[in-house]
Amino acid sequence: MIETARLLLRPMLIEDTEALLQIFADPAVMAAFNAEPFTRRQMEGWVQKNLVHQERYGYGLCSIVHKAEGELIGNCGLTHMDIGGVPVVELGYDFRSDYWHHGLATEAATAMRNYAFQVLRLSRLVSLIRRTNLASQRVAEKIGMTRAEEITDHGHNYWLYACSLEGLIPPRGDSLPTPSSTG
Ligand SMILES: CC(C)(COP(=O)(O)OP(=O)(O)OC[C@H]1O[C@@H](n2cnc3c(N)ncnc32)[C@H](O)[C@@H]1OP(=O)(O)O)[C@@H](O)C(=O)NCCC(=O)NCCS
Repeated sequence: MIETARLLLRPMLIEDTEALLQIFADPAVMAAFNAEPFTRRQMEGWVQKNLVHQERYGYGLCSIVHKAEGELIGNCGLTHMDIGGVPVVELGYDFRSDYWHHGLATEAATAMRNYAFQVLRLSRLVSLIRRTNLASQRVAEKIGMTRAEEITDHGHNYWLYACSLEGLIPPRGDSLPTPSSTG
């Protein structure tokens, strides 16, 4: 469980499927992936895949609960990927559209970045972001990532953002050495 000022990031549960569907069945969210809204079955498969990933790697996507509202409003976490034969860990995030523009993705991603570097002791994080997804690119920049390379996959153009612990210059008020993680 990771706690920030406004959020709880906790391991995803199969019971989260319905609340996650509120995010992934929203055309505004799915536009970021150039995809159709998820059906319930697709959502179940997505959650199941993440639970298997969590079991295999010991980390995965967390569900995000807004502490004051008591509602599941997003996900943020770490996914093992293979990019061009190189194993990487991707930091990702998706939020319910009625909670956008309040700095919540930046808050969650900052906490997850700190957890990855300080608790999991990962040396590098990446985010694979479509070139059209300016909101996600801005979140990546705000947590200290920079564009590393351009990638084309299945006809879509992405920026690969990346950061390493050594490369990070913590912005004021964002001290890296003190994660508010309880495990
Ligand atoms: C990307 C996403 C998680 C951002 O969530 P959010 O909580 O609104 O982000 P924040 O409030 O922390 O905003 C971070 C920055 O992005 C900027 N931003 C937000 N939406 C933007 C947009 N549409 N275009 C440009 N910048 C945008 C904000 O202004 C802020 O920058 P600033 O502090 O310099 O003003 C949210 O838009 C989302 O869930 N999108 C759909 C799913 C998605 O794209 N996931 C990522 C896939 S790579």
